[in-house]
Amino acid sequence: MWEYTDKVKEHFFNPRNVGEIEKPDGVGEVGSLACGDALKLTFKLDEDGRIEDVKFKTFGCASAIATSSVLTEIIKGMTVEEAAKVTNRDIADYLGGLPEQKMHCSVMGREALEAAIENYRTGGRKKRRLEGKVVCNCFGVTDREIERVIRENNLTTVEEVTNYCKAGGGCGGCKGEIEKIIERLQGDKAKEIFAVVPRKGGRLTNIQKIQLVQRTINEQIRPALRAHGGDIELIDVEGDKVIVAFRGMCAQCRLTEFTMKDVVEAKLREFVSEEIIVEEEGESAQVPHKHRE
Ligand code: FES
Repeated sequence: MWEYTDKVKEHFFNPRNVGEIEKPDGVGEVGSLACGDALKLTFKLDEDGRIEDVKFKTFGCASAIATSSVLTEIIKGMTVEEAAKVTNRDIADYLGGLPEQKMHCSVMGREALEAAIENYRTGGRKKRRLEGKVVCNCFGVTDREIERVIRENNLTTVEEVTNYCKAGGGCGGCKGEIEKIIERLQGDKAKEIFAVVPRKGGRLTNIQKIQLVQRTINEQIRPALRAHGGDIELIDVEGDKVIVAFRGMCAQCRLTEFTMKDVVEAKLREFVSEEIIVEEEGESAQVPHKHRE
């Protein structure tokens, strides 16, 4: 169901530099099998202080393998100082992009690299230390890590934070705290989307429309569905057509038709555009919702 670029597929099917270097100069281990992703990165320097060899072992999905593989290609030949400047954005960009929900794999690559560099600089062989206060107990993510992904990737919603570092993706108990961090760091920017973008009548660019649809779902629709054990996921936006999928209780609920029209479509028409038509995933090939009354 994920849309992967050719480069992601290529690195997934033919990963480079798989394995572990004996007697490495730097070792970085991040993630855990319990959390579904884990990565061990080892590198060796040549006599000029450049990364001569680098290998990885990873446990995870196609994106985790592809990001680890491409990271080894990016940093091979770099000095440690140059490698320390590689960001998760660089890794994702090198792959031609990643699905938003998989951006945490690029963050895991960057964290493993930082851990390996720290290990090289300090000489220790410990797993990466958690800096800051743990906000998400389900995934062991601290406030400093959350702040960093927000700043580096200009995130404005809890869902985006979950996509980038998994925080909030378990029991959901930390979402309030994540919201406060976003508000503190991005307060004005987060409000900008609703305040600056014309809500009705004015023309939206595609990017504005997608942002506004996502934000309306996050803030106006999802809380109501979650209160009843359900959830909703934005699948695509094609012009005025918004394609969504219901999750949890909503997926089995016989009132889905009602929810679609009187909650989802109504809110999107109120906050985005009066022209919005909402369809459920897989419904496109059938008769549009609007005309099924
Ligand atoms: S504490 Fe963050 S999702 Fe459970």
